[in-house]
Amino acid sequence: MSLVRLVRVCGIVGYVGHRPALDVVLGGLRRMEYRGYDSAGVAVLDGAGALTVERKAGRLANLEGRLDEVGRERFGGTAGMGHTRWATHGAPIDRNSHPHRDASERVAVVHNGIIENFAALRAELEADGVEMASDTDTETAAHLVARAYTEGDTKGDLTASVAAVCRRLEGAFTLVVTHADHPDTIVAARRSSPLVVGVGDGEHFVASDVAAFIEHTREAVELGQDQLVVITREGYDVLDFHGDAAQAKPFTVDWDLSAAEKGGHEYFMLKEIEEQPEALANTLRGHFESGRIILDEQRISDQDLRDVDKVFVVACGSAYHSGLVAKYAIEHWTRLPVEVELASEFRYRDPVLDRDTLVVAVSQSGETADTLEAVRHAREQKARVLAVCNTNGAQIPRESDAVLYTHAGPEIGVASTKAFLAQIAANYLVGLALAQARGTKYPDEVAREFAELEAMPAAVQKVLSTVEQVRDLGRRIADSKAILFLGRHVGFPVALEGALKLKELAYMHAEGFAAGELKHGPIALIEDGLPVVVVMPSPKGRAVLHSKLVSNISEIQARGARTIVIAEEGDETVRPFADELIEVPAVPTLLQPLVSTVPLQVLAAEIARARGYDVDKPRNLAKSVTVE
Ligand code: G6P
Repeated sequence: MSLVRLVRVCGIVGYVGHRPALDVVLGGLRRMEYRGYDSAGVAVLDGAGALTVERKAGRLANLEGRLDEVGRERFGGTAGMGHTRWATHGAPIDRNSHPHRDASERVAVVHNGIIENFAALRAELEADGVEMASDTDTETAAHLVARAYTEGDTKGDLTASVAAVCRRLEGAFTLVVTHADHPDTIVAARRSSPLVVGVGDGEHFVASDVAAFIEHTREAVELGQDQLVVITREGYDVLDFHGDAAQAKPFTVDWDLSAAEKGGHEYFMLKEIEEQPEALANTLRGHFESGRIILDEQRISDQDLRDVDKVFVVACGSAYHSGLVAKYAIEHWTRLPVEVELASEFRYRDPVLDRDTLVVAVSQSGETADTLEAVRHAREQKARVLAVCNTNGAQIPRESDAVLYTHAGPEIGVASTKAFLAQIAANYLVGLALAQARGTKYPDEVAREFAELEAMPAAVQKVLSTVEQVRDLGRRIADSKAILFLGRHVGFPVALEGALKLKELAYMHAEGFAAGELKHGPIALIEDGLPVVVVMPSPKGRAVLHSKLVSNISEIQARGARTIVIAEEGDETVRPFADELIEVPAVPTLLQPLVSTVPLQVLAAEIARARGYDVDKPRNLAKSVTVE
């Protein structure tokens, strides 16, 4: 069966309580807009047996416009659900938008994920005379629930009907189901796809993300694999797919609503760029006590860390770049070989792993499908897996042996910024913990490295004072056809990240290169006026590399490039070669990416803005990529 394999996580919210459900549901969908979507829909139960559904392709505003047309008063009720979709099966058009209903229009379903056996289920339903109203896999679930509810052992029992259907579904799904016969109940289920319950006073929520209900309650419950929850006004019950009582994990959401709002900025990304000093401080907080590095939720013992003979870092996108940066530090500090690999490549090439291999899985969301699969593969091979993650309780940390949370706070902008810096810092903590356990660094050296890391929030704060200069530059080069990025040593992954940011946000051709490769190809791209960003190492810390990069810059300048140089304050040697000079504070070499990445984030965001693009929601991209 051929499926579209790339889907973004849909936004899901369900509500039963005392407020108008339509308002709560729309508010929740708005909070999850950052996930990326192409259509939206709502269903409200009016308590008198009516189930009213409206769906619309495009942004939430389209749905709201449609609700105004048909009259919002038709949606009077205090139970309902909503969905923002990213198309997998069937084009993003109205009839494929969720919620989907059965033929009698008594059952409504919203879904995230892919029902992998949907073709067989659909054929079975069609053979039974069911006419499909959409091209989606989700619709099969609506018909199956309706059928289970009207016949057999599960007749009249909505929860048992949903459980029975879940047992038949293959793939990954979060399902939320309502039935017009049960206007005060919502049943939701999950397998390999996120679902949290919000516990309020006389009201309960289900959602794919706590952001959906955080303005109403901070008390949440995270559902486990193959669990189902029944919410009513009064309470919630967690069951497994066989209908037996099950345990889920209650937690209190530790960030507030304002943390997820733009805080006066034009877009989330700029706010998140500005939050980087705080994010870094939060990542480091509490990890050095009584002279020792401490990793939270450490379930890998010191002895196991001593036995490690090889490290893999697996990740996607910016998280992968954070791994490339970490390689330099971890190898230097621990003398262990470190391989950094794209998660999507890792498990398909039979990597050499055993119980002495430490796999560090880096993921902001903790949901990225390729990284999750890499974790599973590594664990099957008996390797130990340490997750570096920004999202509490997400799937990747749940399936790993240990987790180090980055605590960067919610990141709404699709292109990663503060989470990326936090990942670098967290990876460094992993390196220091390994060095400490293995004795490749003396305790005073570990303490010094940590102190240097602790000085980084202030250094990043200093870089932020140059933001206006970089924004001005961004506006001046916004019409460029392409931009190249060059760096050496840890400046190389910074160049890759700078290019990725520009591609993501400004839809501009951008490439990052190791500057040493210039003469092996990229120099042929240089033409008059082409902007080339060069990430300089410190003239003191890395004198040899510095002089080599100065030569590289003069070579490209001689061929007409417009050189944009990111250099340490007071680096006079490079000044004559820089058409534009962006200064960053002097910091230890290995920590330089934490300062030199920041201007590149600002540059990409400003170029995108100048070109009229949505900085927070770049086209074709979404925050979490939950299927390969
Ligand atoms: C998407 C995001 C990127 C992110 C990548 C990996 O592509 O747009 O910003 O770096 O996924 O996500 P993760 O959540 O695993 O860090």
